[in-house]
Amino acid sequence: MAPKSSDFPSADSDYQSGFGNHFSSEAIAGALPQGQNSPLVCPLGLYAEQISGTSFTAPRKLNQRSWLYRIKPSVTHEPFKPRVPKHEKLVSEFSQVNSSINPTQIRWKPVDIPDKPTDFVDGLYSVCGAGSSFLRHGFAIHMYTANISMENSAFCNADGDFLIVPQSGRLWVTTECGKLQVSPGEIVILPQGFRFAIDLPDGPSRGYVAEVFGTHFQLPDLGPIGANGLASPKDFLVPTASFEQESRPGYTIIQKFGGELFTARQDFSPFNVVAWHGNYVPYKYDLSKFCPYNTVLVDHGDPSINTVLTAPTDKPGVALLDFVIFPPRWLVAEHTFRPPYYHRNCMSEFMGLIHGGYEAKADGFLPGGASLHSCMTPHGPDTKTYEATIAGGDNVGPHRIKDTMAFMFESCLMPRICPWALESSYVDHDYYQCWIGLKSHFNPNNTRNSHNNNWHPEIQQ
Ligand SMILES: [Fe+2]
Repeated sequence: MAPKSSDFPSADSDYQSGFGNHFSSEAIAGALPQGQNSPLVCPLGLYAEQISGTSFTAPRKLNQRSWLYRIKPSVTHEPFKPRVPKHEKLVSEFSQVNSSINPTQIRWKPVDIPDKPTDFVDGLYSVCGAGSSFLRHGFAIHMYTANISMENSAFCNADGDFLIVPQSGRLWVTTECGKLQVSPGEIVILPQGFRFAIDLPDGPSRGYVAEVFGTHFQLPDLGPIGANGLASPKDFLVPTASFEQESRPGYTIIQKFGGELFTARQDFSPFNVVAWHGNYVPYKYDLSKFCPYNTVLVDHGDPSINTVLTAPTDKPGVALLDFVIFPPRWLVAEHTFRPPYYHRNCMSEFMGLIHGGYEAKADGFLPGGASLHSCMTPHGPDTKTYEATIAGGDNVGPHRIKDTMAFMFESCLMPRICPWALESSYVDHDYYQCWIGLKSHFNPNNTRNSHNNNWHPEIQQ
């Protein structure tokens, strides 16, 4: 049964809003039990089922779980079997056996969307990552190219949470908590264990996926910024309950478990949840709602100022994976090199581009493409950008960066790269050339006390 446009929410008001709330939703009024979670007999004859996103004993401020009230429980299925044919390009435990390391700056051109029918699951492939879903610490970065909807099947990721960044083509995402419509420019988070199906109403589709093992995304602390700014909790949207009750012979659950896919048959849709409540939920966010902060006098801010969501490690301030964006915004700094500075980072940075261009690269970094600058690998603006910036001098005035949305997945772990990504025909082998032309501007006589017109000591006081 093909889903229809009218099945999916089109307005923000069709969702619940908030981040980390204890939500509740009923597709039929009176379906949620009152005063307890697991009554002897649930209203409407539903089964009560809890899904845990954290250990039962996790501290209350971190604890995540939801109660689902469904027509039949998830357990009603035949045994899991290895999926045939095997999916060869998903990794959840990065090691020398399945991936390699390379400190070189790597850039990929946008990967073509295949002509042959390919759904989200078959079109998903790991690019790089570190750690292990088995040990509940690590991450994987995937991409997908697909052109057809998943049919009579649902996907379940037992390994970690997916943060999906569609670059081309909308996603119609059906989950056990309800339906979401996710367009390029929005992101959707599908937490570990939730079953979901992805339809592609626009056909050919492409995007990026970050997966985190053993933790969940949270909003970054704002520190001295104050109580407001960056991504606002009210702008995160959570679906409302909707359910299917029809018989679905031959329905398949595809479970990603330790990076391998398994299938199990059942005769009903897993999207049979009539009501639910809890704080462990799928959600989406429109990146255009981000409220960027920036320098208003001198110097380019560190990219962490644009963090939308962060998946923490146990070390304060050290992210397993940050999701950072580079949205349209004003650049106003005086006598400042405004593009991102040259740097080497103890963290590793994977970048993608949803649309437009990126301020530090005049050419070659294209929508749908990607780059990887690993731990301590130098990077920064290309030659053309550097020379154009210097030539512009100090009188450029305020400048608005328009029509762009780049993003970064940044991790404290050192990524290993999958062989199909490293050997891909989409690797831009000339990437290094963008910096080779950087020439020496060194002049031992041009001190700040002589004639460096970019130095205004009165501003420094
Ligand atoms: Fe960087």
